Amino acid sequence: MADARPFHWEFTPDPVTREVFRIEGGVPLRGEVPISGSKNAALKMLAAATLTGERCRFTNVPEIEDVRVMAETLRDLGVVVDHPEQNVYEVASGDVEWLFVPLEAAAKMRASFMLLGPLLSRFGRVIISNPGGDRIGRRPVDLHVESMRTLGATIEYRNGYYFATAPGRLRGTEVRFPFVSVMGTENAMLAATLADGHTVIRPSAQEPEVDDLIEFLRKMGADVERTYPDTIEVQGKRRLRGADHHVIPDRIEAGTFAIAGAVTGGRVTLTGAPCEHMTAFLEVLDRTGVDAQCDADRITVDGSALRDGGFRAVDIATAPYPGLATDIQPPTCVLLTQARGVSHVHEAIFEDRLEWLTELNAMGARIDIPDNHHAAIHGQTPLRGTEAEIGDLRAGASLILAALAADGESTIHGAHHVKRGYENIERKFADLGARIARLEEGTTSTTS
Ligand code: EPZ
Repeated sequence: MADARPFHWEFTPDPVTREVFRIEGGVPLRGEVPISGSKNAALKMLAAATLTGERCRFTNVPEIEDVRVMAETLRDLGVVVDHPEQNVYEVASGDVEWLFVPLEAAAKMRASFMLLGPLLSRFGRVIISNPGGDRIGRRPVDLHVESMRTLGATIEYRNGYYFATAPGRLRGTEVRFPFVSVMGTENAMLAATLADGHTVIRPSAQEPEVDDLIEFLRKMGADVERTYPDTIEVQGKRRLRGADHHVIPDRIEAGTFAIAGAVTGGRVTLTGAPCEHMTAFLEVLDRTGVDAQCDADRITVDGSALRDGGFRAVDIATAPYPGLATDIQPPTCVLLTQARGVSHVHEAIFEDRLEWLTELNAMGARIDIPDNHHAAIHGQTPLRGTEAEIGDLRAGASLILAALAADGESTIHGAHHVKRGYENIERKFADLGARIARLEEGTTSTTS
């Protein structure tokens, strides 16, 4: 195995072209919108494919920037990553040359840290950059690192990098988390699949994306099972085989488009939607008076109540699955600006995920933000078009929703944030009748 790549090696980040969304609001959205594969499932599967040298083939992979960054990160390790057709990726890590995940990859995408578990467990060593936080909070990785140490790894932290080694094999044991962590659970689970012995992970995250990863690992021959709602058990194996997998639909994209239909007073049908993964969210819609009907993998949302006096104010609190997903909290706040009365929002997972609401206030909303975890939304307030800057993925998608609901034209800067996690978002909205275009900064042309 070649030594890790020398530190002076530069990772040439792609130039981010500054793009904007230009939106003419006030158009009720109508029609059908296909829901793409789950970003937060697909990224972990690409990382899990490095547990074997055999080829793995993934279908229903979303065409988003984060997947492209993960693919490039894998290629830079020497992993063969083919993209033979739209939404299809094939991965073969038989000839991995390097065990070095550079700062630029990690800085672009926190999920690159998902390579710690599989590379450490398969090769016994990896050097990986600390991904750091982003706009929604500090987002440390201490739980990931501690779980690897519990499994027998030695990990040192120097100059922004973790130097992880596991002479021999990792050893199966009990991995206890102080609280639920989605990727903490997934990283420990991937590492345990090749460890020597039995591992028990609890409390383990219960998100559907974790269960989709479990299903893929079992196809690879891993002995992994959710034995209790909050417990995952793994019997380590010597090696795993290649496998094919169809990624589950993205419940957060589905929720985003459901709210788009509601806040524009339209009627939108989501196709290929994971209804069974959206119970907590659909319960919130029901309480607000949004009419959402599930029929197998289709969800039809009717926002006509918007015109009949608005929706009902409700209190919401985010929580680990099966609670209300923190990622759907920002879009839900846009809905609550169109609800009559005061809605109280408690963001319990991240400490900086309400900051962006000041942009909503600039559009005419009336939102108090007493602290990092709480907001009070006084509705119903008409929204007006604005010029705004996107800070992170979900806030960015939510600003688009607000612009679609607003009177007048909006220019939303920082479109690249949204391209990280939503496949062809402007085209999907345009297909529903939205007047939206994604343009390079400074372009003057009007919306489609
Ligand atoms: C995953 O992030 C998702 N990302 C997030 O989606 C999602 O919001 C989050 O889970 C929900 O919990 C992916 O799956 C790629 P956590 P993750 O570990 O695993 C703290 C999106 O927009 N924590 O469950 O990083 C952490 O700061 C993204 O698609 C530690 O303290 O989240 C947070 O407060 C945003 N130490 C809490 O735990 C650690 O080592 C839950 O975070 C790890 C996490």
